[in-house]
Amino acid sequence: MSMQNYYLLGRSGLRVSPLSLGTMTFGKDGPYGGVWGSTDEVSRALFDRYLDAGGNFIDTADLYTYGTAETLLGKFIAERGGRDRIVLTSKYSYNSTTPGDPNAGGNGRKNMVRAVDASLRRLRTDYIDLYLLHTWDRITPAEEVVRTFDDLVRAGKIRYAGLSDVPAWYAARAQTWAEAHALTPLINLQLQYSLIERTLEPEFTPLAQTLGMGITAWSPLGMGLLSGKYKPSEGRLQGEGRLTSAVGGDKMGLFTERNWAVVATLEKVAKELGREMSQVALNWVATQPAVGSVIIGASSVKQLDGNLAALDFTLPPELRRQLDAVSTPSSVPFPHSMFAIPHQFDLQGRAAVGDKPAGYTSPVFAGPPATVA
Ligand SMILES: NC(=O)c1ccc[n+]([C@@H]2O[C@H](COP(=O)([O-])OP(=O)(O)OC[C@H]3O[C@@H](n4cnc5c(N)ncnc54)[C@H](OP(=O)(O)O)[C@@H]3O)[C@@H](O)[C@H]2O)c1
Repeated sequence: MSMQNYYLLGRSGLRVSPLSLGTMTFGKDGPYGGVWGSTDEVSRALFDRYLDAGGNFIDTADLYTYGTAETLLGKFIAERGGRDRIVLTSKYSYNSTTPGDPNAGGNGRKNMVRAVDASLRRLRTDYIDLYLLHTWDRITPAEEVVRTFDDLVRAGKIRYAGLSDVPAWYAARAQTWAEAHALTPLINLQLQYSLIERTLEPEFTPLAQTLGMGITAWSPLGMGLLSGKYKPSEGRLQGEGRLTSAVGGDKMGLFTERNWAVVATLEKVAKELGREMSQVALNWVATQPAVGSVIIGASSVKQLDGNLAALDFTLPPELRRQLDAVSTPSSVPFPHSMFAIPHQFDLQGRAAVGDKPAGYTSPVFAGPPATVA
């Protein structure tokens, strides 16, 4: 797997790099940008370096640095050229520009249409390749969102649509509605996924595989916790970076015993492989089932260079097993907890398998015939 390979995103014809460039830190505006955002010069260097390495998939949002990330991207793309080669993603949901206006935020039709026009102006383009609902507002019906996405595709303002940070039932409802009414299908779920955040797996992995939505993983380094700058082995629990800033990791509840155990195993595995911890952590996410692309963040070109080399090696099965074991969430949500225990009764009708000709039974139901007492 390398940056020169492009993969189809979900059930679509859109080809994207397995590592996508995150731009949440482009610019110094907004509460986070003011603390850990990058200058225009560093942002420009990251943008150029990513494209020079063969990447084609860029992630932004109208929220990021309160519109500055989009404005910078628009400028960089216009100056460099090659707009059509880039798969440009943006998102809407948050009201960062018009405080007090109830329809300048949320997932509703009025805000989506307003937001896409504002993003197109900042990005200096007439279309966005992949447009996402950023975060579920817990109000707007999925049908309204899907219908408006479809209108924007027909109007030529966006090419594809997807969802970020929504419950699995909502994504299933939206996709099924789109299919039932022959509307633009959703091809992407953008979700937090890393060695320290794996709770999406029981619901979202099969959802994405079954309904044709590729997962793009955000904060794959746990916002820096898995980057190698915080090492318990060296007593460096308080490294220097985003997590130790004024809006940092202890406030986000990241510095837990369980997370430090993950970091310690990651350090050991990386040492054995002769790789950077960040590279191993990114490689692990990129090769998880249903993941279409991993959205990388970096605050310097040196960091980005290291991260772009994360797919140049294969994680040996035994080392992957160690990472899987230490990072498995401590509890499995119901009803998945039920599926993990052996059943007293024959749930899969296995006794009938032998009655059918070979090849008749779907692999899902195949398995060793149940022993009949
Ligand atoms: N949909 C959503 O709700 C959502 C939410 C968050 C992010 N995102 C997207 O996902 C992207 C990535 O998120 P993220 O920035 O949180 O990802 P991350 O990979 O978990 O964290 C990136 C941060 O880790 C540190 N880092 C990265 N590579 C490093 C290296 N090689 N060595 C040392 N430190 C390194 C840098 O922070 P410091 O150097 O400052 O410590 C960098 O800014 C965002 O830009 C955005 O596009 C989406």
